[in-house]
Amino acid sequence: MAGQKITLSVVKADVGGYVGHSGMHPQLVSKAKELLEIAKDKQLLKDFHVTSCGDDLELIMTHDRGTESSDVHKLAWDTFLACTEVAKKLGLYGAGQDILKDAFSGNVKGLGPGVAEMEFKERKSEPVLVFMADKTSPGAWNLPLFKMFADPFNTAGLIIDPSMHGGFDFLVLDVKNSREIKLSAPDELYDVLALVGSPARYMIKSVNRRADGEIGAVASTQKLSLIAGRYVGKDDPVLAVRCQSGLPAVGEALEAFSFPHLVEGWMRGSHYGPLMPVSFKNATPRRFDGPPRVIAAGFQLSGGKLVGPVDLFDDPSFDFTRQKANEIADYMRRHGPFEPHRLPPEEMEYTTLPEVLGKLKDRFKKAT
Ligand code: 13P
Ligand code: 13P
Ligand code: MG
Ligand code: MG
Repeated sequence: MAGQKITLSVVKADVGGYVGHSGMHPQLVSKAKELLEIAKDKQLLKDFHVTSCGDDLELIMTHDRGTESSDVHKLAWDTFLACTEVAKKLGLYGAGQDILKDAFSGNVKGLGPGVAEMEFKERKSEPVLVFMADKTSPGAWNLPLFKMFADPFNTAGLIIDPSMHGGFDFLVLDVKNSREIKLSAPDELYDVLALVGSPARYMIKSVNRRADGEIGAVASTQKLSLIAGRYVGKDDPVLAVRCQSGLPAVGEALEAFSFPHLVEGWMRGSHYGPLMPVSFKNATPRRFDGPPRVIAAGFQLSGGKLVGPVDLFDDPSFDFTRQKANEIADYMRRHGPFEPHRLPPEEMEYTTLPEVLGKLKDRFKKAT
């Protein structure tokens, strides 16, 4: 029913890849569906959709328990554990990869899975997009989120829709120091860009409409925030965006992905590559474990029911973007182990550099 408070929870984890880190085994998806169906029967969930992007298992759930509900988080956690068992039986690659802790303690944040959750009053018509990416990190959303909610050359609504004209607040996480700051666009546009233009350190967590605080978007950054100061790898991210009637139109949200910008995370989590928007069936990064992929699932919410999804990047109007992404992927690949294809040392998921430097340390001579 319109007007009722609803929570959208998107929780994801890599619990095993098929083959290598490239894709998803159908038995993991069917196991997750089976468990979420039981939770729906018990009325813990209003509705759900299970899908995958690359080797990441994505649980899209609606309920009325609010964000950070321990029951919903426990359900997601138990589902990932059960799917890990399936992955182990099948010998899938990296079974339980994102299950970093042994015990659940009320919340999946910090245990490995990525979470994007928002609670809002369902509007008369509630279009919601869920973006899911593989072989990258939450910083990958900075550029498209900025375009959607702050760039009038992308989002005409910022100029011509009176209810958007007041702009949007960006909550930005400083992942190195585990701090966050709210910045307002358009007033602090240059400050926003000064931070989010450095996406390895500053990541947009959420976006709210300034006029009334209405939530527009929320991204998964929790795992990274909790491990701030210590680098344990990339976290293939998810993002939920509400659309229309005072928020970006669906087309404005999608247009933000028409430029295949460079993101970190492909091949061993250690290289820059272009983010390629693809259809569900093409969300399997294979060449050099990439290029990084993003899919977009469109839903209409109706009394908490997820009507959909529509495979929004399954559209020839993104062919040019994909072609460009392939050209850029090829160009970046030609650099091999050289930066800026390879990430700078502090961003590498793993590196031999300390060992190499240790081995060579006595052979370094004072420069003449
Ligand atoms: P709404 O104002 O209803 O969101 O419509 C915007 C629009 O025309 C989309 O292109
Ligand atoms: P995932 O993070 O998707 O498991 O990929 C790991 C990797 O390094 C692939 O090259
Ligand atoms: Mg993997
Ligand atoms: Mg992955």
